[in-house]
Amino acid sequence: MCGIVGYVGYRDCSDVLVSALTKLEYRGYDSAGIAVFENDKIAVAKSKGKLQDLKDKMEIEGKLQGFAGIGHTRWATHGEPSDINSHPHSGKRVTLVHNGIIENYTELKDFLISKKREFLSDTDTEVVAHLLDYYYNKVQDPITAIIDTMQELKGSFALGIVFADYPNVVYAVRRESPLIVGIGKDENFIASDVPAIIKYTKDYYLLEHDEIAVLSKNGVEVFDIHNQPVQKELKTADWDVDAVGKCGYPHYMIKEINEQPNAIKNTVSPRIKDGLPCLEECNITTDSLKDIKQIYVVACGSAMHAGVVGQYVIEELARTPVTVDIASEFKYRNPLVGEGDLVIIISQSGETADSLAALRLAKNRGAKTLAIVNAMGSTIAREADMLIYTHAGPEISVASTKAYMVQLSVMYLFAFELALAKGRIDEEKCRYYTAKLLETSDMVKNVIDASTEISQKISSKLITADSLLYIGRGLDYALSMEGSLKLKEISYIHSESYAAGELKHGTISLITKDMPVIAVATQSDLYEKTVSNIKEVKARGAKVIMICQEGNDVPKDIANYVLQVPKFEELLLPMLVCVPLQLIAYYTAVQRGNDVDQPRNLAKSVTVE
Ligand code: AGP
Ligand code: GLU
Repeated sequence: MCGIVGYVGYRDCSDVLVSALTKLEYRGYDSAGIAVFENDKIAVAKSKGKLQDLKDKMEIEGKLQGFAGIGHTRWATHGEPSDINSHPHSGKRVTLVHNGIIENYTELKDFLISKKREFLSDTDTEVVAHLLDYYYNKVQDPITAIIDTMQELKGSFALGIVFADYPNVVYAVRRESPLIVGIGKDENFIASDVPAIIKYTKDYYLLEHDEIAVLSKNGVEVFDIHNQPVQKELKTADWDVDAVGKCGYPHYMIKEINEQPNAIKNTVSPRIKDGLPCLEECNITTDSLKDIKQIYVVACGSAMHAGVVGQYVIEELARTPVTVDIASEFKYRNPLVGEGDLVIIISQSGETADSLAALRLAKNRGAKTLAIVNAMGSTIAREADMLIYTHAGPEISVASTKAYMVQLSVMYLFAFELALAKGRIDEEKCRYYTAKLLETSDMVKNVIDASTEISQKISSKLITADSLLYIGRGLDYALSMEGSLKLKEISYIHSESYAAGELKHGTISLITKDMPVIAVATQSDLYEKTVSNIKEVKARGAKVIMICQEGNDVPKDIANYVLQVPKFEELLLPMLVCVPLQLIAYYTAVQRGNDVDQPRNLAKSVTVE
């Protein structure tokens, strides 16, 4: 969900567009492009790669000359990063750029193909361009055509649009993906956020849901989806440029934690058809699943922790054996993987050397491989036999939050489909779980709102700790692994996750007075057992922070703090419980004055073994 810019005014449009896009580079992208009114025709220049590649292309092919146009940096979600998939995309009389995901693009594409529309790219965005052109051709009015198109689209979109018949006018539309309108003197702008325009103006309108802006150099009009004019409040940016890149959040990590509800929706919704998981676009069908005998999940760090949750869920529902390997171990333990096995590689970046090595070993052994990747077109994405993209958008903070969350969501979708394919659950049960998974988007939002304050309070009690334990059983143990890693990597406090039932076999000797122990106890069938383990550490002086479900019977004095998540389908509770674990780590690091987004010694993608 990267960057959109637009300009109408008196300056060299290409220079303004490219300069504005450079201010959006921090958001991560894989290709870029612009469209400019040149002698009253719309000229387009676009290229895979960085903005420098676009500039080099214009050096060779000629810079676009004009005073109005649109620009885009792409974070690919549909269609590999390539010149042809880069934005802008065009219909006959319409050219546009898009941030977001069109969930119903396949059925719209089928309709447009039936109307003899020809497509050049694999993107969902090109479908919007042709649909808008189709309606414009019918109604011959830009705003009416835009409204007709919006009413057909499902998903998230910020659009910058130009119509060949309306030179030097830029149209902008917003649904979920952010978009602002910069108000200058004899010039106006659109942008995904303020850093792109702050060099020219600090005054802007914030477009709201389903609003349409019409920009000329003399002024801006805004309409709602009923074509009624909207009076907009003029805002003035007072953030420092870098802060604005975080949309007002102090760190990318907390911004990305708050992006999780949308990330879940963008990842899960397009993979559900008639209430059931549908992974056909990823080459995954019932036939390709039902004969799988053994599954290996191989990944690193948080991605591996998502795999552990997946292991529990797949074995619980599909009764298919799953092992989870740390990628750097998998390759060197001479695993028994081979024909008939499925190896699932989970990776946000799709470039992690250890995970790539594991993928290649699995393929050499004749196993089927499935990649679950966030970065479109990355090496792991390209080399796996089957591929499910997560749609978290670019994750800037080194500590993974939204990418981990959507990795969980894909593991659940996969588990439901596998269990159905193997006849272990019926369609009714599969629909139930799928509906609950969709519900997590709103539930996660509620948990973020409800657990922020208590997480801050708990963090204030952890900042002086030398070491702490995270304990749990079953899915709660899998979550404690992720909670411990989050805390370690950004607060620099040592911590360890431990199976609660295993403590008495040695590790309990570590418990000293006031040692913090974060106990995750959300699974009813294990609750009493975990409570007993909590009592064991409490009796030895530990300071206990307990995470459980609302309504749980929490014994008196068992914990110094009790953080409760809403009662929910217990199989899906990891999607909710990871939120307070992320927030506790985040606020502890903040209170310790650490560089939250760029922790010492760490890189966002570890491309060396
Ligand atoms: C997670 O917070 C860490 N940044 C790290 O463990 C990460 O999950 C690991 O390096 C795997 O990265 P990948 O998902 O890009 O393969
Ligand atoms: N879904 C669109 C694509 O894949 C837009 C992605 C973005 O927001 O950059 O091209």
